[in-house]
Amino acid sequence: MAEPRITIRENGSYRVEGDVPLFDHLGNQLHPANPSGYSLCRCGASKNKPFCDKSHAEAGFDGTCNPKYLEPPVAG
Ligand code: FES
Repeated sequence: MAEPRITIRENGSYRVEGDVPLFDHLGNQLHPANPSGYSLCRCGASKNKPFCDKSHAEAGFDGTCNPKYLEPPVAG
């Protein structure tokens, strides 16, 4: 089985691989069609949130950033 990982795609989604369970804000587990590989919307344009439906391309999403220099948010 693949090592769990999340990849930030260029101008697109967060790609989740390796059987990472997904829960909503109430603690309910969501069941992606393919639980060992799914994409989460990062642009806000998906009509099927939290999943990416490729609307980022039509929306012209620019996800340019350099994450290694970003501070993580304060938990809360
Ligand atoms: S990142 Fe793909 S629809 Fe938002």
